[in-house]
Parts: sequence; structure tokens; C-alpha cells
Amino acid sequence: MGRIINKTRIILLALVLAIFTSACETEVAKVSEIEQIKPVPMKENVKDSDGKIKIGFSMDTLQEERWLRDRELFKKSVEALGAEVEILAANGDDALQISQAETLISQGIDLLVIVPHNAEATAAIVHRAHEAGIKVIAYDRLVKNADIDLYVSFDNEQVGEMQAKAITKLVPKGNYVYIGGAITDNNALLFKKGVFNVLQPLIDKGDIKIVYDQWTIDWNPENALANMEAALKANGNQIDAVIAANDATAGGVIHALTAQGLAGKIPVAGQDAELAAAQRIVEGTQTMTVYKPIQSLTEKVAQLAVNLAKGENIDANQKVNNGKIEVPSVLLAPIAVDRFNIDDTIIADGFHSRVDVYR
Ligand code: GAL
Repeated sequence: MGRIINKTRIILLALVLAIFTSACETEVAKVSEIEQIKPVPMKENVKDSDGKIKIGFSMDTLQEERWLRDRELFKKSVEALGAEVEILAANGDDALQISQAETLISQGIDLLVIVPHNAEATAAIVHRAHEAGIKVIAYDRLVKNADIDLYVSFDNEQVGEMQAKAITKLVPKGNYVYIGGAITDNNALLFKKGVFNVLQPLIDKGDIKIVYDQWTIDWNPENALANMEAALKANGNQIDAVIAANDATAGGVIHALTAQGLAGKIPVAGQDAELAAAQRIVEGTQTMTVYKPIQSLTEKVAQLAVNLAKGENIDANQKVNNGKIEVPSVLLAPIAVDRFNIDDTIIADGFHSRVDVYR
């Protein structure tokens, strides 16, 4: 009897051991899998056949004036550092942006810089780039829910605060319209958050009433025009101020106001220091814009892109949560511009010439 019990124990033990070891093995296997998932080390010898570092720049669109300038100045900034850049723009098409990123990756780029059309959809691009050992920088707009390596932009919440501060100084009480940006763009959420950081206390006091608040599909000025026409109609033109998320949408707003003989009578805020907006500001149909010196953005991103591509440490002392991680970030300062400081800012920087603005 005793011998049978021992035999059974040994068998059981052997069984347990076998189970355990196989469990361990699977654990080991899992661990090694996880180790495998960890980002593979950076691409070795990042130099191209001509010895140059190659940056890929995946842009959402060239629809707004500023993106043409971003493209031109980023190319100059990268080449000034002895590297080269391949630029593709996706015309607001998510599927095209993803396939263009695939193309850049297959062309052997050393680092990818991306302006996402859709903050969420582009997470797939980050994953794909990392699989290829390529680091990714989010340019101006954040990529959400992805292990992005770096985010460089302007302080976009401050942009909204600057707009609201400028308008509430002129219209401390009254009916307000908010024309937001594209909800697919994380910046649009930040601009709006900044605006309401300033407006909410005045709304709570009953001084200000938001009589219309709408996002603008794809930042399209035609959509902003239609929204502003709807706002005027719904409120019998009883509107005292408008904050538009950028100058292109502000242009749509002012188009609608002009049709009602209200242009120049109702303060309007914008962003991007577009030439048309600068002209409207000196003519008096637009109150202000927020100027973001694109030169400093492109120079900063180009330098950090080359550093990262070389595997060097970078100085990114801010953090922005993108829903997945605290992304190392660099946020540059925007500048509020109205007719009193337009000469000392936009024109002084040569962003636009005095002749073009004061046409
Ligand atoms: C935002 C950008 C703005 C504006 C807009 C439309 O992300 O920060 O400057 O131009 O896109 O493209």
C-alpha cells in the first residue's frame, strides 16, 4: 500500500512539475515574446547611400496657407542640417496618409515626422514605423493613443485663451458664437478648451451667452460659412462676438457677416496670421489673429529629428498625455496680433510684407 501511495505521489509530482515547467516555459516564452515586443533597437547605420540622414514628412493637407509654409521651411531646415527630407501630403484622406507613410517607411527613412489628419487613425502609422525601427515625431498636432516618441507644437490651449481674452476685452457681455475646428484634429479640442477657460466664468456669471457652437468639418471655410449663416439666422442676427478656430474659418464667418452688413461691426477672432486675415485686421473686419512663427517650429523639429535619427539624447522638457503615454514634448509660445502690434510682429518677422498687408 505504502509503495502505491509513493508511486502516485511521484506521478502526481511529476505531473505538477510538468504542468509548472510548461507554465514556466510558456511564461518564459511569454517573457521572451514581451521582450520581442519591446521596441527593436534603432535602425543601424542611419546614413543613406549618400551618407545623409533621410527624414520622412507625412502631412495631412496643404489646404491652409500655413502648411505650404511649413512644407517649404521644414525642407530648408532639414537640408541646412545636412540631411534630406521626403514630403507627402494626404489631402485630408486618412487611408492615403497611412499608405503614404508606408511608402516613406519602405523608402528607408530614418525618422518619420507626421502631421496627422485624424489624431486616432494615425496611431496605426506609429505602430508600423516602430515595427521598422523608425521613431516618430508628431508635428503641430498630437497623435492619440500611440507610443509617439516626441511631440512638438505651439501651446494650443494658450492660443484659445489669447483669442478669448482679446474678444472679451471688447465684448465683456453679450451673445457669442464659437466656430470650432475639425473634431478629428486634437488641436481643435485644445483651442476650444483654451477659449472656454476664459469664457466659462463669464458664462457662469450670466454676462456671456453662447448662442451657437459648432465644429467645422475638415476645417473647410465653406462649412464655417454655412455654420455662421445658420447662427445668424437662428439668432436674428443678434450676435455680439465670434471666435473662429483659425483664419480660414474666420474668413467664412466674415463672408456671412458681410452678407448681413455686419462685417467690422462684430468682433471676430482667428488664428494662423494668414495674409487675408492680416489684411482684414488692418481694414477692421477682423479683430485679431494668433501668430505662430512657423520658422521656429520647423527649425526645432528638424534639429530634434536629426538628433533622434542619430540616436542622440534630446531636450524635451514638457509632457503631454495622449491617452496612452506622457509624450515628451516641446511647446512653443504663440503671439496674439491685432492692428496695434501687427507691424512689430508679423511684419517685423517678414512673415508678410507691409506692402501686402496694407494693400
Ligand atoms: C491646426 C493648426 C492650425 C490650423 C488648422 C487647420 O491643427 O494648428 O494652425 O491651420 O490645423 O489646418
